Amino acid sequence: MKVKSVFFCNECGYESPKWLGKCPACGAWNSMVEEKIKPDTNRNSAKSSFAGEKAVPKTLNDIASDAEARIETRISELDRVLGGGVVKGSLVLVGGDPGIGKSTLLLQMCETLKTSGCILYVSAEESDKQIKMRAERLAVRNPRLLLLAETDLDGVCDAIHSHKPDVVIIDSVQTVYSGGISSAAGSVSQVREVTATLMSVAKGSGTAVFIVGHVTKEGAIAGPKVLEHMVDCVLYFEGERHQFHRILRAVKNRFGSTNEIGVFEMTDTGLQEVRNPSLMLLSGRPENVSGSCVICTLEGTRPMLAEVQALVSKSNFPAPRRMSTGIDYNRVCLLMAVLEKRVGFNLSTQDAYVNVIGGIKIDEPAADLGVALAIASGYKDVTIPNNVLAIGEVGLTGEIRAVNSIGKRIAEGAKLGFGIILVPSGNTKGVTAPENVKLHHVANLREALNIF
Ligand code: TYD
Ligand code: MG
Repeated sequence: MKVKSVFFCNECGYESPKWLGKCPACGAWNSMVEEKIKPDTNRNSAKSSFAGEKAVPKTLNDIASDAEARIETRISELDRVLGGGVVKGSLVLVGGDPGIGKSTLLLQMCETLKTSGCILYVSAEESDKQIKMRAERLAVRNPRLLLLAETDLDGVCDAIHSHKPDVVIIDSVQTVYSGGISSAAGSVSQVREVTATLMSVAKGSGTAVFIVGHVTKEGAIAGPKVLEHMVDCVLYFEGERHQFHRILRAVKNRFGSTNEIGVFEMTDTGLQEVRNPSLMLLSGRPENVSGSCVICTLEGTRPMLAEVQALVSKSNFPAPRRMSTGIDYNRVCLLMAVLEKRVGFNLSTQDAYVNVIGGIKIDEPAADLGVALAIASGYKDVTIPNNVLAIGEVGLTGEIRAVNSIGKRIAEGAKLGFGIILVPSGNTKGVTAPENVKLHHVANLREALNIF
């Protein structure tokens, strides 16, 4: 059979018979990769209908409602991110850097899944002995868990058909290959074919499928972006390798919110849920030093407290250095400009380094006030007391603007013993001071700074 060569765009999966410098579909430069395709006549899995038979149009009433068809994982942080459990027949992609804990999380899930059927864990990376060793360490003893060390997709599909598991885990999509395509495992066309086949298996049989996907250096799941379009749910597992906590984030979810996060801690007996992330993020906070302030960010429906630190020192360069981790660089520059113009601080001669402790990322304007206070405190060398929490968005005229869910944020602060909470004066609804908390309503930055 003649082997033909086609080119795929790594970004969007666009297919072209010849190499192109720029992808005509998504406009990405230098994203085309060559792959050898052996046309296979007896495979059309990706094109067949989900149930394997001819699809006919139906009215909404004719379609059985699967609203309750969720399987709880009983790992509450994972359930939260999935939107209340795994939906039957759904395809979930779990992405993350190598070594972050994807296999560990999914293996632990095999123990807690609330299902009476069997669970199939397909490992294309480790041998069954290696998985057993890991399972022992994680105290996974579920007798209904079946392990399969297999890299051939046909073998995986056969196992699914003969054992009819409720949940299948494929670890990882980049190491499973489909015999119908001649290019190497992990290439764009392979990853696409494997996902399409698993998708039709999932939709046809009602089996929930978890696919593990490694992430490239650029932070995308290796393989084309189309993978993310195909699946029902994309979860990213992130965190710093040398820090112990891990954050599970939904970036796409057809059955739930994408705002929720799950927080875990990697221990020597596997991943432990972190029920109170604020406490973890604030642990080890220094006492009575300048350049530090606590803010409250909302992740989904969940308030989280975090410490922002700022180091401001005289610059030796004509253009001072500015650096930020965990918070948008431009946002920091903007806040410094506001401090300079509206409060009169001479920051243009100062280097500034801003860091959010704990490796989390903040992309919420409600953190503005705390960041501005940390910078001001670092610049003036004035300590902000340890029991102060700052909530509010800073506008360009230096005004403090109202934020959403203020009640929740205040309650979280009060719970962790913050006695002084700065809130925007515009936030009046839902604002009552809890016991032992003094609320300061501030209208602008100057007013907030005058408190200290
Ligand atoms: P793993 O789940 O293999 O990562 P991934 O599948 O995302 O590549 O996690 C491997 C890391 O987790 C490894 O660096 C060791 C660490 N680890 C623990 O700290 N404790 C444990 O109980 C386990 C199983 C792993
Ligand atoms: Mg793994």
